[in-house]
Amino acid sequence: MPQASFLFPKGFLWGTATAAHQVEGNNTNNSWWNWEQQPGRIVHGQKSGLACDWWGGRWQEDMDRAVETHQNAHRFSVEWSRIQPAPDRWDESALDMYREMLRGMHERGIEPMVTLHHFSDPMWLVEQGGWETEKVVPLFEAYTKKVVEALKEYVHLWVTINEPNVYTYGGYLNGGFPPGKNDFNLAMKVMINLARGHAVSYRAIHALQPDAQVGIALNYRSLVPAHAWSPLDKWAAQTQAQLYNNIFPGVIKTGRFDAIIKKMNMPEVAGTQDFLGINYYTRDQVVFHLLKPDQLFGKRYYREGVELSTTGFLANEPEGMIEALRWGASFKVPLMVTENGVEDSGDKLRPRYLIQHVHQMWRGVTNSFPIKGYFYWSLVDNFEWERGWTQRFGLWELEVETQVRRKRGTVDLYAQICQNNGLTHDMVSQFAPDLTPKLFPE
Ligand code: FCB
Repeated sequence: MPQASFLFPKGFLWGTATAAHQVEGNNTNNSWWNWEQQPGRIVHGQKSGLACDWWGGRWQEDMDRAVETHQNAHRFSVEWSRIQPAPDRWDESALDMYREMLRGMHERGIEPMVTLHHFSDPMWLVEQGGWETEKVVPLFEAYTKKVVEALKEYVHLWVTINEPNVYTYGGYLNGGFPPGKNDFNLAMKVMINLARGHAVSYRAIHALQPDAQVGIALNYRSLVPAHAWSPLDKWAAQTQAQLYNNIFPGVIKTGRFDAIIKKMNMPEVAGTQDFLGINYYTRDQVVFHLLKPDQLFGKRYYREGVELSTTGFLANEPEGMIEALRWGASFKVPLMVTENGVEDSGDKLRPRYLIQHVHQMWRGVTNSFPIKGYFYWSLVDNFEWERGWTQRFGLWELEVETQVRRKRGTVDLYAQICQNNGLTHDMVSQFAPDLTPKLFPE
């Protein structure tokens, strides 16, 4: 019998994603470090501490791991509070360190994608009101310029802001992120300032590096009505999708900010993306609940019987991946899957999850969606924000106290996917045999 493979276009990027605060360690001067010191903020009072000790040099051994597994790209972020430790001070040695990391990636044949803002803010910025006031916009612009001038020699792919939706809802609608507020109007203000910040950053990058590719990474959640027959559930799901998924990519495409109950024109931010980064993890059922803005007018839950990640944080819903990509394709720019993965300390679900999501992504490619790369979250277990160390997303397991890394089974699967530029029958039968009949019907 001939055996099919799911192959990807030549030059497809296969990598993993990380973020500064989650892997570097000792980021003592930012909003998250500060949050970690406050009782009750992080599960079990856990702290980022040394994290994966990348700042101490362990990025090198982790990049060797990426190369061993045939990855050709890596997405990571630079930490604003290191580069600009005070409003009137730049730290050149921090930029030197990032240059060294970037050189190390290039030497290993790894194409870097650099995120400028991934959740953490310098404390001096927080003290000035963070993203709640428009003052942040020129500050983010100045920071962008400083970084791009220093790193552009090595970087072609830039993400301005990671998950502006998660940042906003996490910090301003009861989501467990700093500053821990619950205020819909303020949340919308923050989102608007993030859009302004993104736009000035986009333009600053292009002024310094005309051929750069610049985008955001958006957390796309698949939100489906809990009861297909219910107009109220349908309304709730659509409302949530508008507020959660659509606002940000919408406004930076069209200049129209549309949060349903708050709309405005922002022509200055229109047309500021060269690609759209999609972070896809899971799907929710949405049931009409109460007119509660902090729940975005609906209640969400996972489908009954669906496979869950170790702590129940994510449901394995691969069909949401192609939905996300179809949605992404409507923005008419190239797409990158800038994050996708699952927390699974026992590595039981991860191989299936990876195979199923890569398969759905391949369906997207065959639909001619312009997908250019895939970044698995994450290379090694790292500090998962308010969930601390309880969630293990790594291909490699990390023993936090000793910094020892242990390879999980999925490493070999991902290595084969990267090496073959796709998924084959053999991989599926080796790593998730029960999926073989589904993916390769006889
Ligand atoms: C995303 C974040 C990333 C990581 C994954 C699991 O929302 O961008 O930093 O925490 O979730």
